[in-house]
Amino acid sequence: MFITLEGGDGSGKSTQAELLEAWLTERGSTVVRTREPGGTEFGVEVREIVLHSRGHISPRAEALLYAADRAQHIATKVRPALERGEVVVQDRYLDSSVAYQGAGRVLDATEVRQLSLWAAEGLLPDVTILLDLDEDVARARLDGANKRFDRLEAEKGEFHARVRAAFLELAEAEPERFLVVDAARPAAEIAEVIRARVEELLVRRSQ
Ligand code: TYD
Repeated sequence: MFITLEGGDGSGKSTQAELLEAWLTERGSTVVRTREPGGTEFGVEVREIVLHSRGHISPRAEALLYAADRAQHIATKVRPALERGEVVVQDRYLDSSVAYQGAGRVLDATEVRQLSLWAAEGLLPDVTILLDLDEDVARARLDGANKRFDRLEAEKGEFHARVRAAFLELAEAEPERFLVVDAARPAAEIAEVIRARVEELLVRRSQ
C-alpha cells in the first residue's frame, strides 16, 4: 500500500507520518517511511540544489529537479518496497509538484502532472492525506519553529495561498484517493482520522 501525505509547509505532515508509521508497525505491517525531495542518496543532492541553491532557478528547471528526484526515488526505493508487500508512508509526492510548480510557479498543471507521471512510470498512491491549513497559520507555525526558510518556504503568502487552493482542487477532483483533514485540529485527533481511513483500506484489501 502506497500512502502519501500532502499539504503546505508547516501543516504537520512529518508528525502525522511518524504517528502513522508507529501505528502501522504496531499493527504488524513492515513500513518504509520516506519523503520527497530527498528519499535517496541522489535525492539528497537534488534536495540541496532545489531548496538551498542561492541563484535563481527557472520554474521549468525546478519542476525537472523535483521530477528527477521522484524518478530515482520511485524506481529504486518505493516500487521495490511495494513489490515486497510493504507499506510506504511518504511525505509529499506528485500532488506537491502540481500545487507548487503548477499553481505556485504558474506552470501548466496538466503538464506538470504528466511530467511526474512519466518520471514515476504512472504510479499513483492508494490514499493521499491532505493536511489543509490556512497559510497564515502555517506561516506562524514556521516562524515559531525558528528554522531557516528554504527557497519555497521563503515565498510570499500569496504563493502559499495558491498552493493551498490547488491542493484542495486536486482533492476535489479525486475524492476516492484523497482524505482532507483540517490541520488546525490537535495532532492526536488528526492521527485518529487518518488511521480510520487506512484501516478501512487495509481491511478491504485483506478481504
Ligand atoms: P519538505 O521536505 O516537505 O520541507 P521541510 O523538510 O522543510 O518540511 O519539502 C520541501 C519543499 O519542497 C516544500 O516547500 C515543498 C517543495 N516541493 C515542491 O515544490 N515540489 C515538489 O514536487 C515537492 C515534492 C516538494
